[in-house]
Amino acid sequence: MNIFITGGAGYIGSHTCVELLNEGFDIVVADNLSNSSQVSLDRVRRITGRDFPFYEIDICDEDALSRVFEEHSFDGVIHFAGLKAVGESVSRPVTYYSNNLISTLTLCRVMQRYLVHKIVYSSSATVYSPDNPLPLREESKLGCTNPYGWSKYMCEQILRDVAAADRRWSALLLRYFNPVGVHPSGLIGEDPRDIPNNLMPFITQVAVGRREKLHIFGGDYDTPDGTGIRDYIHVVDLAKGHVAAIKYLQGFTGVDAINLGTGRGFSVLEMVRTFEKTNGVNIPYEIVGRRAGDVACCYADPQKANRLLHWRAEKTLEDMCRDSWRWQYNNPHGYGRDDGGNVTLH
Ligand code: NAD
Ligand code: UD1
Repeated sequence: MNIFITGGAGYIGSHTCVELLNEGFDIVVADNLSNSSQVSLDRVRRITGRDFPFYEIDICDEDALSRVFEEHSFDGVIHFAGLKAVGESVSRPVTYYSNNLISTLTLCRVMQRYLVHKIVYSSSATVYSPDNPLPLREESKLGCTNPYGWSKYMCEQILRDVAAADRRWSALLLRYFNPVGVHPSGLIGEDPRDIPNNLMPFITQVAVGRREKLHIFGGDYDTPDGTGIRDYIHVVDLAKGHVAAIKYLQGFTGVDAINLGTGRGFSVLEMVRTFEKTNGVNIPYEIVGRRAGDVACCYADPQKANRLLHWRAEKTLEDMCRDSWRWQYNNPHGYGRDDGGNVTLH
């Protein structure tokens, strides 16, 4: 089977490329490299020993996208391409809505024209309203707090409407919880362009000496140690969830939303302690005020994914911490300077 991957040079996309290639799928990748580097795809080739075509195009560019569909025939699409920084989406809403919505609409139009009707969409736990009881189930109330979240919500709705209008379509809306960790080779990983917003990349940058200390946002939440709790999921487990989703789509028509999480929450302090213990490093930190928009606690009910996709997350918090550190240690400057990814951890 040949799968078209948009945003495949990015963090989750590159990991999914590895898992698909390892499972024998053929892939074609498109990415405009606005938040990634082509080095990630060279590393995917190195890990898997397999080659695949790459197109440096914008998914909003209908002519360029049509040329890819003209040159290949696809059995399905995984749509990762999108902008994802919550804070930036608040200050640049038009950019976020344009990129995330127009790329999805253009993709739908081109897929329709070339009779490709199966799509896996990268959605997010951020589409759930913050006032739901936990764990979050697919039927939980939806509602967002920022333009990034709304763009995910709107793309979900677009795909629901497209599939309702034409019964040949099938779409899985995968709602990721908190992806962390990297491939155990340490060759591909998460490479934030600016100061990281998310917890794990900030911790690894403190560990490698690029930042002085971690600011823990809030120590007075109603949680056992006062810090926020999240459902961290290893990106390799997440990538395998996409392989399961693509397989499931072959016998499915319609639309369904599915949580990809572990079902277990860990606090910021548990994450810091586990990172220190697993890797034998010290993470200086300071507890500061809460970050606007954060909730105390968020975790998934992953039973629907277990049941329908025959998938469950297997990796531990220790695996997430060990693998993230291996990546950062081997690639202290991310893909920015190709350090070769050859250093061995002792
Ligand atoms: P990422 O930024 O590493 O990957 C996204 C990729 O899409 C990048 O390589 C970027 O260059 C590319 N891209 C963006 N707009 C494009 C366009 N118009 N045309 C072509 N390429 C384009 O992000 P990621 O963490 O790998 O996230 C992948 C997807 O998963 C995104 O849609 C994101 O919203 C979603 N998601 C991510 C998280 C997370 O925590 N990382 C959580 C929930 C959902
Ligand atoms: C954030 C986004 C969410 C997005 C997700 C994945 C916000 C409000 N939410 O989720 O929409 O889907 O990233 O990209 O931005 N923390 C610190 N110090 C830090 C960084 C984080 O203490 O420097 C804490 C946070 O307060 C939170 C936890 O660590 O309790 C996880 O934070 P983060 O990795 O940013 O993920 P989310 O906030 O869950």
